[in-house]
Amino acid sequence: MTPNPPDLATALRPEAPAAGENSRAATSCTIVIFGASGDLTKRKLIPALYEIASQKPAPRFAVIGFARTPTSDDAFRKAAAEAAGKNGSSVSGGGLAGGSAGARGDEKGGDEKLRDFAQSFTYVAGEYDQPDAYQNLSRKLDEVDRERQLGGNRLYYLATPPAVYPQVIEQIRKAGLAQPKGNSWTRIIIEKPFGRDLASARELNHIVLGAFAESQVFRIDHYLGKDTVQNLLVLRFGNGIFEPLWNRNYIDHVQITVAESLGVEQRAAFYEHAGALRDMVQSHVLQLASLVALEPPAAFDADDLRNEKIKVLQSIRPYTPEVVARDIIRGQYAAGTAERGKSVPGYRQEPGVSPSSTTETYVAARLLIDNWRWADVPFYLRTGKRLARQVSEIAIHFRRAPHLVFRGQGLDANWLVLNIQPEEGISICFYAKLPGQEMRLKQVSMNFSYHGAFGADERSAYTTLVADCMRGDATLFDRADGVEAAWSLVDPISEAWRENKAPLANYAAGSWGPREADDLLERDGRHWRKP
Ligand code: BG6
Repeated sequence: MTPNPPDLATALRPEAPAAGENSRAATSCTIVIFGASGDLTKRKLIPALYEIASQKPAPRFAVIGFARTPTSDDAFRKAAAEAAGKNGSSVSGGGLAGGSAGARGDEKGGDEKLRDFAQSFTYVAGEYDQPDAYQNLSRKLDEVDRERQLGGNRLYYLATPPAVYPQVIEQIRKAGLAQPKGNSWTRIIIEKPFGRDLASARELNHIVLGAFAESQVFRIDHYLGKDTVQNLLVLRFGNGIFEPLWNRNYIDHVQITVAESLGVEQRAAFYEHAGALRDMVQSHVLQLASLVALEPPAAFDADDLRNEKIKVLQSIRPYTPEVVARDIIRGQYAAGTAERGKSVPGYRQEPGVSPSSTTETYVAARLLIDNWRWADVPFYLRTGKRLARQVSEIAIHFRRAPHLVFRGQGLDANWLVLNIQPEEGISICFYAKLPGQEMRLKQVSMNFSYHGAFGADERSAYTTLVADCMRGDATLFDRADGVEAAWSLVDPISEAWRENKAPLANYAAGSWGPREADDLLERDGRHWRKP
């Protein structure tokens, strides 16, 4: 079978192994999942752990689930095997044998592999703010480590609702579980959203850094774990031909689209307070913009890359209330038609949503980066739920040729498009001559498809990121100052919206967003690329 493409850090490290050789094996540890009965654990974490346990060679690890809901070890194992089977059934290879997940063994049938994987799972029920529960956890950690010889290494995963993060971190600290013993390590992964504005993010950083050293903290944004997002950096810095063009002299503007076809689903309780700005722009969309815009880091390590990303965020022109009113569109979906023609309700009719909700489900923004590379090159960003289809892409629009030799052909310029999902790949659009006597031009494209080139499905972002954390590589995680810089940019937008009672532009479910978002570009003589 053709292996997965190596990711960025592997590909660019001098001693990079041949593709498929897994020299980045994570180290053994016990993983404690806080929020073990939740949706994230079931849909993302357990399948990711199963994928890690199926690597060759695989790290050995055991899992302790921690949550309020009482359940037995056996029931937790059964649920884990089911979750891994449902979401991780494409995982190939052996690598699983009794004992800790990840021990190497012979090839086995699917069910047996799932059972073996779940064998190392145990469960501790407890209230997140109760010291006793953490004493139980501490005992369980010692027991599991002794039985399975995991070197005393611990990885905590905060997958609870964000409101309880402070309690959990405080209790971990008070129970003496935050600091490693001897030669072992202790790390913590914190799910997004990290705070809900700058003040709360600062407060959370304060609590986190009161318990852990920054080097132990892994703030996750799963977009950075996507192979195609990392591939943007390989495209820019692993090749000689693109970077010379990557500036204001050749690029007219940049479009970043993160469109979802799904609605709010069962997440109204969270989403009503978040909205698209906090849920998507502050994290995923700004991460993508930073990677497009950053200067070449000196090396691909956590500090260099994160330093360059922060410089981008700090160079973005601040949003004054006037700029917000002019350059940012907030929208909410009304009833319409989803994919395959199904009628779907508007946001205000979704379960758990207030009928008079003013939460935005769509944001389009014009963003300027005030530095030498990007002066006067607008970045247009858009993200929304219930759009025409699910697609995430970065489109670089180059300037026109300086002199149009082929008159009357109405030439658009060239595009370089990075498709992040669902069809991962890169396309370059350019003009070619149509066959025939006349000189007629047509836009064509050269396409690179991840699947076509490597024959492998993209692996889950969570697999990459959890494995990175197990190895102690923080390159694809956020640092305290990075999260705060993103909130510093976004806070004035929500404040301006609140103070000026910014209007909500409606769009029909299944469309490409509100008319006002088209106007935003048309005002500049541009238009959104049709993904
Ligand atoms: C999450 C948001 O961070 O990202 C969700 O909270 C969103 O609202 C999701 O649906 C999108 O992720 P992906 O990987 O499906 O594009």
